[in-house]
Amino acid sequence: MGIKIWKESVLKTDMVFENALEQEAESMALRTIRTIGDEILTKKCRKLTEMKPRYQELIGDMLDTMYNVQGVGLAAPQVGILKQIVVIDVSEEGDSSVILINPEIVELSGEQTGQEGCLSVPGKAGVVTRANYARVKALNEKMEEIVVEGEGLFARALQHEIDHLSGVMYVSKVQGQLLDTRQEEEQEEQS
Ligand code: NI
Repeated sequence: MGIKIWKESVLKTDMVFENALEQEAESMALRTIRTIGDEILTKKCRKLTEMKPRYQELIGDMLDTMYNVQGVGLAAPQVGILKQIVVIDVSEEGDSSVILINPEIVELSGEQTGQEGCLSVPGKAGVVTRANYARVKALNEKMEEIVVEGEGLFARALQHEIDHLSGVMYVSKVQGQLLDTRQEEEQEEQS
């Protein structure tokens, strides 16, 4: 699985690490994650036309919130903000955050079928077939044009998070039944 980020046709992976360091310098703030049934998760998000301090703060909070629950991605509507912002980090170390503003999928190819979950659907997972490769055009938090592409989990995260921006939840794409990932715990509690 590979992740590549370009800015103006130049490979620019250091951007990711700069962002991570900048975020660490700010104070940590967690936002409440909206869960399925909340109407805000079904709404379309608006594009950002300029970066404002409150969006910088939002992005920092989204990263903190995602890392706090070991998520691999989070979209602004999941914290109640109807703006086209997503954060993703599929690295095991949690040191490779990607911030995407106004993201647009420009290419999809291949196919992957696997389990998917969502921070807004706690305790559940389901099998979803998605493209195995995705290429996305977006702006970074400095409102500079970037292109990101990747395969496997990163491609899945891109498609899942960008779906959130148009009010689409993965549960509408699940093949078969939603699985209960907390089944064992609950059975123990009941007995
Ligand atoms: Ni989600």
